[in-house]
Amino acid sequence: MTHQVRAVVARGKGAPVSLETIIVPDPGPGEALVKIEACGVCHTDLHYREGGINDDFPFLLGHEAAGVVESVGEGVTDVAPGDFVILNWRAVCGQCRACLRGRPQYCFNTHNAKQKMTLASTGEELSPALGIGAFAEKTLVAAGQCTKVDRSASAAAAGLLGCGVMAGIGAAINTGGVGRGDSVAVIGCGGVGAAAIAGSSLAGAAKVIAVDIDDRKLETAKKLGATHAVNSKATDAVEAIRELTGGFGADVVVEAVGRPETYQQAFYARDLAGTVVLVGVPTPEMKLELPLLDVFGRGGALKSSWYGDCLPSRDFPMLIDLYLQGRLDLDAFVTETIALDEVEKAFERMHDGDVLRSVVVL
Ligand code: APR
Ligand code: ZN
Ligand code: ZN
Repeated sequence: MTHQVRAVVARGKGAPVSLETIIVPDPGPGEALVKIEACGVCHTDLHYREGGINDDFPFLLGHEAAGVVESVGEGVTDVAPGDFVILNWRAVCGQCRACLRGRPQYCFNTHNAKQKMTLASTGEELSPALGIGAFAEKTLVAAGQCTKVDRSASAAAAGLLGCGVMAGIGAAINTGGVGRGDSVAVIGCGGVGAAAIAGSSLAGAAKVIAVDIDDRKLETAKKLGATHAVNSKATDAVEAIRELTGGFGADVVVEAVGRPETYQQAFYARDLAGTVVLVGVPTPEMKLELPLLDVFGRGGALKSSWYGDCLPSRDFPMLIDLYLQGRLDLDAFVTETIALDEVEKAFERMHDGDVLRSVVVL
C-alpha cells in the first residue's frame, strides 16, 4: 500500500518551496511510517533549498519533528504503532568500530529508510532532508530514527529536541561536560546558543554568560537561565567574559555563531584549563588564524560538537522528563506555530531577531 499526503518540497536551487502531494510507501523491513504532528523550521532546511548541501533536488524538507508511529515493517521491535516518537537524523549500526567503542554518534554505517518517497505529479524520487523529510503529513524513516518519549509532551516542544535544541543542550552538557559550579559563556544566542544556555543552567553552572549582538536574543537568554548578558557590539566579548569570571575566563565557552571572529573570541575567553565547544558551522572558505604559541601555551580543550554528541535513546526521554517537570522550558523556543503552507514565510522571518523557532503543527 502507499499513502498520498501533503508535503513541503524544494524543487530547485533557491526556488520558493511548494506544497505538493507525495507518495509514501508502507514501511519495509526495519522501517517505520510516522504520522507527523509537529516539525520545526531549521536553518538547515533553508540550506537544502539554496542548494548549499547538495544538488539532489527535489528535497522533502523538515527534520525537527515529533509524531506517532502508524505502522512498522518486518523485524521492528523497538517501536510500535501508537508510540509517540521524536525523530533523529540517522539510525546507527551498533556494530562498527565507532559503535563498539561507545561513540555511536560517529557510526560508519548510519542509515535512513531504504525505500523512496516520490512526487505524485512527476514520479521523481524525493531526497528527505537529513534522512527525515517531516514537513509532511506522514514520512518514512528507519525504525532506529524513532525514539519513544512520554506522550504528555506537546509535539511542538518535543520535535525541537530532534535538531537545534538538542545540538545546543548537548554541546554544553555532553561535549562541554558543564557541571555544578562551572562558569559558562555562550557566544551567539539563537536557537542553538539559547539551548546551550538552558542546558548549562540545568547542569548546575554557577555563571552562565550570554553573548550576542542583538539585545532581544539576550533577553530570551536571561529567561532561559543566563545569569549575565553581554552585547558584543558594544563591549569586547573576551574582556567582558574575563571580567565576569574573576579575570580567568570561563570553564566552558560554547561558540554558536560559526564565524572566524567568534571562534577567536571563544578561544581566548576560556580559562587556561577550560574547554571551547564549537557548534556554529563555518563555511568552507573561512579560516581561523591563531599564534601557535597561544595554542601551545593554553591548556584545556578545543572540541567541536556534532548533533550535541547526543544519544537519542538516552537524551530524548530524559529531556522530555525535565520538560514535563517544568525544569526545561522547551516552549520558550517556540516563537510561533504555523501551517504546512507557511514554511516559505518562516524562512523569510528566520533572521528576524525575535524568532527562535517557527514550528509547523499538523
Ligand atoms: N557575535 C555574537 N553573536 C552573533 C554574532 C557575533 N559576531 N553574529 C551573529 N550573532 C548571533 C545572532 O544575533 C543570533 O542570535 O548569533 C545568533 C545565531 O543564531 P541563529 O541565526 O538563530 O542560528 P542558530 O540556529 O542558533 O544556529 C547557530 O549553530 O548549528 C549551528 O548551523 C548552525 O552555525 C549555526 C549555529
Ligand atoms: Zn536542523
Ligand atoms: Zn556503527
